Amino acid sequence: MIKKCLFPAAGYGTRFLPATKAIPKEMLPVLTKPLLQYGVEEAIEAGCDTMAIVTGRGKRAIEDHFDVSYELEHQIKGTSKEHYLNEIRSVMDKCTFSYTRQIEMKGLGHAILTGETLIGHENNFAVILADDLCDNQKGKTVLNQMAEISKRYPNCCIVAIEEIPKEDTNKYGIVAGKLIEENLYKIDTMVEKPSPKDAPTNLAIIGRYILIPEIFDILKDTTPGIGGEIQITDALLTLAKKGKVLAYKFSGIRFDCGSVDGFVEATNYFYNKQK
Ligand code: G1P
Repeated sequence: MIKKCLFPAAGYGTRFLPATKAIPKEMLPVLTKPLLQYGVEEAIEAGCDTMAIVTGRGKRAIEDHFDVSYELEHQIKGTSKEHYLNEIRSVMDKCTFSYTRQIEMKGLGHAILTGETLIGHENNFAVILADDLCDNQKGKTVLNQMAEISKRYPNCCIVAIEEIPKEDTNKYGIVAGKLIEENLYKIDTMVEKPSPKDAPTNLAIIGRYILIPEIFDILKDTTPGIGGEIQITDALLTLAKKGKVLAYKFSGIRFDCGSVDGFVEATNYFYNKQK
């Protein structure tokens, strides 16, 4: 069982300036709920009870969000507005939160390695990038689908993938491999943000991973890759060469809330869904 979920949440959110000058990008709301809370709810649904959040300077609002606000509780207790707190109270009842700070921004791989102290080496764990907001109206959440596959392949890492337009390969980690089951590939090649002409496929990693603890030692030896950053994709390639990486074409919809277009699409989608 996957019990811990890591949330890298130290990035600056420059594409959302000025909104993200004093507010963490993970706290930007789609409707009334911050992006990070959607991720936490997805992790809970997949069976996680421990949320390990890698934050950075200026991210204190995240800790406050997943904590009790006594003044607020006191003000609205017994009033008609109290139900507005139900959702976040229920999240807080179901899991615990731990935090560590990434002191320097050295890439997603480095952020995940920073979380080692919260995750430990005992069990496989999940990673959610909260700005990839996923939904599956009919069935299980993306992480839940992956957690089920992980039960059958406990020695493998699993990345969620989707087909993207070929001209966008330079925005994603791209994978290639052999189909071993419906929607499930054993990966032998993966490359971070290749140009369309160098991309082996149009299968892009989206922000859901299940990782084996061995990844931490590999990350320690992973040298900076594209953009001068330590890339999780490069570390995963080391495991892929040993046959330990699977890619799962998930069922559901995903919004890139790291871009303004994706964020607006997500907002419209969730607004129409709740009407
Ligand atoms: C990161 C990963 C990339 C992945 C993407 C999914 O990139 O490095 O492999 O495809 O997340 O959103 P970022 O979006 O942080 O540049």
